[in-house]
Amino acid sequence: MVKQVSIIVVYHSGYGHTKVQAESILEGAQSVDNANAKLLDADYAAANLEELASADAIIFGSPTYMGTVSAPFKAFMDASSSIWMEQGWTDKIAGGFTNSASQSGDKTGTLQTMSVFAAQHGMVWVGLDLPPGNNSTAGSEEALNRMGASMGAMAQSLADVGAEVNPPESDRKTAHYYGARISKAALRWAK
Ligand SMILES: Cc1cc2nc3c(=O)[nH]c(=O)nc-3n(C[C@H](O)[C@H](O)[C@H](O)COP(=O)(O)O)c2cc1C
Repeated sequence: MVKQVSIIVVYHSGYGHTKVQAESILEGAQSVDNANAKLLDADYAAANLEELASADAIIFGSPTYMGTVSAPFKAFMDASSSIWMEQGWTDKIAGGFTNSASQSGDKTGTLQTMSVFAAQHGMVWVGLDLPPGNNSTAGSEEALNRMGASMGAMAQSLADVGAEVNPPESDRKTAHYYGARISKAALRWAK
């Protein structure tokens, strides 16, 4: 019988930009045969943790606020301590993505928070296997992984434009690629 895996994207977005990134992650995850993916808002997930029990992979997404995850996403993290008590997410595949206004914006802090969180839960963190896209004269703002991340998918949305404009296409494509990578990892990891 062909293996099927379930991927859940748990995300928060205050103003819609990270939601656009989450939707690209979702589309990428669903683009892989035998992978079924869905989005869960972090507020909803915090109150309905049982919906995550059957997931083979959970992808965490948050805007970077003050150099780390947003308060609603942190509330989800803290709510999951009841799952931690039972180590209920052990061996699930994990990944993370974040979006902020500045080029750096201290986004690495957000992904580090998420990866430590995943490790506390005994999850298996999967990074982004794309080379940096804009760190030489051969690169550009249009390149995949223009933000040069390796822990997960990063996006940058200029502070004064709406989610219909930013994050730009390159960041959406990077998110799509990362979503597909997580589905493939879940399929390889699933028993
Ligand atoms: C409370 C708050 C804190 C923020 N902190 C940062 C930050 O540390 N670094 C950064 O580059 N942008 C920061 N921003 C900008 C957001 O990351 C950026 O606008 C992002 O696109 C918002 O995503 P959202 O629309 O999904 O909420 C902050 C915004 C808010 C509202």
